[in-house]
Amino acid sequence: MTTLLINIKELLQIRETAIAKVSGAEMAILPTIKNAFLVISDNLIADFGSMDNLPELHADKIIDATGKIVLPSWCDSHTHIVYAGNREQEFVDRINGLSYEEIANCGGGILNSATKLNETPEDEIYNQSKVRLEEVMQLGTGAVEIKSGYGLTLDGELKMLRVVQRLSKNYPITIKATFLGAHAFPLEYATNHQGYIDLIINDMLPEIAKNKLADFIDVFCEAGYFTVEETRKIMEAGIKFGLKPKIHVNQFNSIGGIQAGIEYNALSVDHLEVMKPEDIKALKNTDTMPVALPSCSYFLSIPYTPARAMIAAGLPIALATDYNPGSTPSGNMNFVVATACIKMKMTPEEAINAATINGAYAMGISETHGSITIGKKANLIITKPITSYYQLPYAFGSTLIETVLIEGEIIS
Ligand code: NIG
Ligand code: FE
Repeated sequence: MTTLLINIKELLQIRETAIAKVSGAEMAILPTIKNAFLVISDNLIADFGSMDNLPELHADKIIDATGKIVLPSWCDSHTHIVYAGNREQEFVDRINGLSYEEIANCGGGILNSATKLNETPEDEIYNQSKVRLEEVMQLGTGAVEIKSGYGLTLDGELKMLRVVQRLSKNYPITIKATFLGAHAFPLEYATNHQGYIDLIINDMLPEIAKNKLADFIDVFCEAGYFTVEETRKIMEAGIKFGLKPKIHVNQFNSIGGIQAGIEYNALSVDHLEVMKPEDIKALKNTDTMPVALPSCSYFLSIPYTPARAMIAAGLPIALATDYNPGSTPSGNMNFVVATACIKMKMTPEEAINAATINGAYAMGISETHGSITIGKKANLIITKPITSYYQLPYAFGSTLIETVLIEGEIIS
């Protein structure tokens, strides 16, 4: 099956040779071709170029993209899409003055979601989660990472990861799974942290590894959650089971989680709302991708990741949604890109790089996703007719996507 896109107003994020990520000043460069064509064959990008060089070929399907922009689909490297129920009451409680921390300290927050998750049958969790997955695919996401972390029991964590596996089997979108048993201490371990860490390391990890249910290991390294020392132990155990670390750090406090992540060669360190100069310095010349989650900052009214200081220091940045019931009930990468421009002062070029190639890197899939490169997956967004790609972040509340292709198939 060969599909030919013609008359593309502008084709974004073209990379003749595959790159892993872009950092610092390179993030400002978004290579494009105006008036372009693109060929899809066997679900992969087979060719692209200027319409002046359109090759003669037999196409089974032709898509005329006159006036429309084409770009690689979003790579959302940090989500918690699998969960049960919602936390709408906590949302209203926060409007009425309670803080995220106060809600968590009263047994709400992550523990509230854990109770719901453990009470809900696996099929029902699958049915609720697939609605969110279908929604993000329609919004232009072509690859997504999904975490566990609302089970906090052996059965609950396995149940979540089996749902992730089932979604991965049933949908064309690329899914990477992360084990986040270390998301919070369950009430029964409130005064026995070591007991819960032993459960993660001795019971959960071996079972998850045996059933090949996860690619990565995550820890919520934060005051009141997991200490840096506990984070180290859990990363070390995860690595022994073949899981690369990707961790939650610096959401509310800078306590050394970034440095610990780097020590264990974490693929990414995520959140980064609170950054000290030494945190930025530590990330320089490492293989660890800093991931910003601006819709979490928006929803919780907490600081935004200091993107300008990080890019000025030569760092890369990836953007992701953090889609979860508590801190970010939204999986809209278009909103993330716009918010990064509006609130973090990233340029449209930087934000698009951060949401495509750098997001792919943060999931370990930049060889196959995140740019328009021959041989990569034909995961594409075709916009409505628009003036320029600036319109994507500028018209932040508009729906500007017309068609989404995942592995060459039109899904919306
Ligand atoms: O990434 N910070 C930790 N975990 C999630 C939120 C969890 C929740 O509130 O349910 C996050 O923001
Ligand atoms: Fe998160």
